[in-house]
Amino acid sequence: MQQDHPAIFVAGIYAADLVFTASRLPAPGETIAATGFTRGHGGKGSNQAVAAARAGGRVSFFTFIGDDAFGQDAAQFWRDEGVHSKAVVVKGQATGAAGIFVDPSTGGNAITVFPGASGTMQAADIDRVEADIAASDVFVVQLEQPVEVALRGLELARRHGVASILNPAPAVPLPDAIFALCDYLLPNETEAGLLTGLPVETLEQAEAAARALLQKGVGNVIVTLGERGALFCNHTETFLVPPVKAGACVDTTGAGDGFTAGFAVGLGQGMPARDAMRFAAALAGISVTRHGAGVSMPTLAEIRAVLRP
Ligand code: RIB
Repeated sequence: MQQDHPAIFVAGIYAADLVFTASRLPAPGETIAATGFTRGHGGKGSNQAVAAARAGGRVSFFTFIGDDAFGQDAAQFWRDEGVHSKAVVVKGQATGAAGIFVDPSTGGNAITVFPGASGTMQAADIDRVEADIAASDVFVVQLEQPVEVALRGLELARRHGVASILNPAPAVPLPDAIFALCDYLLPNETEAGLLTGLPVETLEQAEAAARALLQKGVGNVIVTLGERGALFCNHTETFLVPPVKAGACVDTTGAGDGFTAGFAVGLGQGMPARDAMRFAAALAGISVTRHGAGVSMPTLAEIRAVLRP
């Protein structure tokens, strides 16, 4: 598995990100004037695929898109980024879209995402790319498409001995069977709390939630903790990897996706988990210094420059 350009297979959704910047996030029932608007490329799966490709992975991406302008733009974006598209175009369905509000004072955001065509995926649909999953070094999936698709993809990865990563975002109720299929589970603190029913505010609480997830059968848990870094936990070791600061934070939208992708590439290169997490932290640390999601992801050269002592 040790190689510079590991094969990463990502399953998930694409969303056209409609990004509004305002002096603050609107409250429920309130209308406020935006100070800026852009349309960008998003969807956690697509963001992770693009980030992994820019970071040196040979990436294939399985998704559903609509037969519409957003879908055509997505396909062009993947071509430009060197992502091998395994997208299925679904007639009569829209491509996914997300409404994103960014608060420029903090870089924080609020997101509503509609999966569109990807919301119609069924477990059997991912069977058609079984051979591609089998030929990869790392399989990555999230939860913006139906959970059955994630479960089936993880089953295929396990069947073929491919290392698997589930980024449980957004957190939804999961079937018990999914946990033991995850070699690596990468929730943020909110998702770790929702998946375990435990409070996750302190480091000690994050470790307790990670241990509860290990008890469910997960191989390794990494809880991402924003400015506090990321906590690794398995049955033999627990450690914290600090964040990598690469400049002022302007937009955190793609940070979790960048971290997941960076970890996948590092793992595929044969790095120990601690090194893969540092690589992931550098990728995410650079992405938050730029606006947007997919387009904010750095190249391998940029990641290496930040990591250079
Ligand atoms: O993780 C960030 C992504 O979540 C955005 O790009 C948006 O499309 C939503 O899917």
